[in-house]
Amino acid sequence: MTTPAPTHSYTTESLISLTEITQSRDPHRIYHQLRLEHGPVAPVLLEPGVPGWLVMGLEQLRIITEREALFSRDARNWRDLNDGIVSPDSGLLPMMAYRPNVIGADQQEHRRLRQPLDDGVGRINHRALRRQVQRICGELIGHFAQSGRADLVADYAAYVPMLAVASLFGLDTRQGHELRSALIALFSSQTDSQVGNRSFEQILFDTLRERQANPTDDLTTALMTHPNLQDDPEVLQSMVVMISAGNETTTCWIAHTLYRMITDTSFDDRLRSGQLGVDDALDEVLWREPPMTHMPARYALRDIELGGQSIRQGDVLILGLSAANSDPALAPGGHRPANNRAHMAYSAGPHMCPAQDTSRVITRTAVDTALHMLPGLRLMVTPGEINWNPSPWTRCPTQLPVAFAVPHEISSPSSAHPFGETA
Ligand code: HEM
Repeated sequence: MTTPAPTHSYTTESLISLTEITQSRDPHRIYHQLRLEHGPVAPVLLEPGVPGWLVMGLEQLRIITEREALFSRDARNWRDLNDGIVSPDSGLLPMMAYRPNVIGADQQEHRRLRQPLDDGVGRINHRALRRQVQRICGELIGHFAQSGRADLVADYAAYVPMLAVASLFGLDTRQGHELRSALIALFSSQTDSQVGNRSFEQILFDTLRERQANPTDDLTTALMTHPNLQDDPEVLQSMVVMISAGNETTTCWIAHTLYRMITDTSFDDRLRSGQLGVDDALDEVLWREPPMTHMPARYALRDIELGGQSIRQGDVLILGLSAANSDPALAPGGHRPANNRAHMAYSAGPHMCPAQDTSRVITRTAVDTALHMLPGLRLMVTPGEINWNPSPWTRCPTQLPVAFAVPHEISSPSSAHPFGETA
C-alpha cells in the first residue's frame, strides 16, 4: 500500500461524474466498467472540473475508513478546496465543507464528539419510537388516502424520517415540517443550498434555547447535558449532524424498499410467504441500493499508493459504498447467506453510522404502515419511467406514483402484515 505507483494523468473532461452514476439506470454496470479500466480505486468527477477518487474495493474502503493517521475526515486537508479549484459557492460544500462536528473530526477529537451521539441513541426507546412513527405515518396517509392515489416519495417517504428524528429531539410536527423545508436546499447540492443551511441551524438553535429553559427527556436534553460537549455551538453541531444525516438516507431506504415491493413480484412474494424475513428484506435493499451511494469523504494526509493508484496528499476520496457491496470479497461466489449484514451501507471504521437500529425502526415501521393502510398498491408508471434525484451522493427515486384501494376507514396499523413489528 505504501509504495507509490507510477502517476497516471487523467484529464477531468474524460472522467465520469458521480451524478452521472447515481442517475444511471444501472450503476453497477458502470462500477464494473470502472473496475475493468482502473481497478478498485477509480478517478471520477465530483462536479465539473473537480476530480476525486471513487473507492470501490472492500479492502481499500476498509483502509481509508480505519486508518485515520493516513486518511482524514477533515475537509481542510482538501487541496482542491484550498487551491480554489472548488468554488466557494460550490453545491458540494454543504455536504463536504469542514464543520466543527463529529463528521469533520479525527481520532481523539472524533471519539469525544461521537460518545454523546452513541449515548443519546442508546437511550432511544424503540417501542415508543415505533408508536410515534406509526402516528406520523398515519397522519401523512390520512392526507391522501381518500383520493386512492399518491406519490409515495413526495407525499410520504420524504416526510417520515425528518418528522420522526425531529420528534426524538422534542420538536413537534409543525417544527419538523419547517426543519425539513430548510434541509431540502442543504442536501440538494444546488447553488441555493447554503441559504437552506442557515435557517436549518437557526431552527435548531431556537429548540436548544427552549430546552435549556425546560429540560425534558429527549435527545436535545441528552446532548446539552452530556459532559463531553463543551458549549452551545458543540451541542448545536451535534443536533445538526444527527438530523441531517438521518433524513435523506432513511427517506431513500423507505422509498427503495417500497419500490422493490411494488415492482419486484418475487421480492414481494418471498416476503409475504415468509421465505424472506422482514429484516432480511430491508438488508437486501441495503445491499443493492445503499442510501448513501457515494459517501463523502476522506482526504489523503500524504502521498500514498492505494489499489494501484498514486494518491497525492490532499486528494479527496469518495466512499463507493454501493460499488463495494458488489465486491466479490463480501459475497464469495455471489452467494450471501440470510441474516448477512456485512454490507457497507453504514460504512465502516470509527465514523460508521451510529444510528443503525434507529433508522431500521423508522424504515420498517414506515414500510409496514404504508403496506397495511394502502391495500393493493400498484405503480402508475413503468419502472423504467422512475427517475433518480440529481445528487452525486444518493440515488433516491424522485417519485413513486401509486394507486391503491380507497380504505373504508383509516384504521391503526396492526402487526398482521409481514412487515409487522416483533421488537
Ligand atoms: C435516524 C437515521 C440516521 C441518523 C440519525 C444517522 C446519523 C449519522 C451520523 C451522526 C453520522 C456521523 C457519524 C460519525 O462521523 O462518527 C452518520 C454517518 C453515516 N451514516 Fe447515518 N444516520 C441515520 C441513518 C442512516 C441510514 C439509513 C444510512 C444508510 C443505510 C446511514 C449511513 C451512514 C453512513 C454511510 C455514514 C458515514 C460514515 C462515514 O463517514 O464513514 N445513516 N450517520
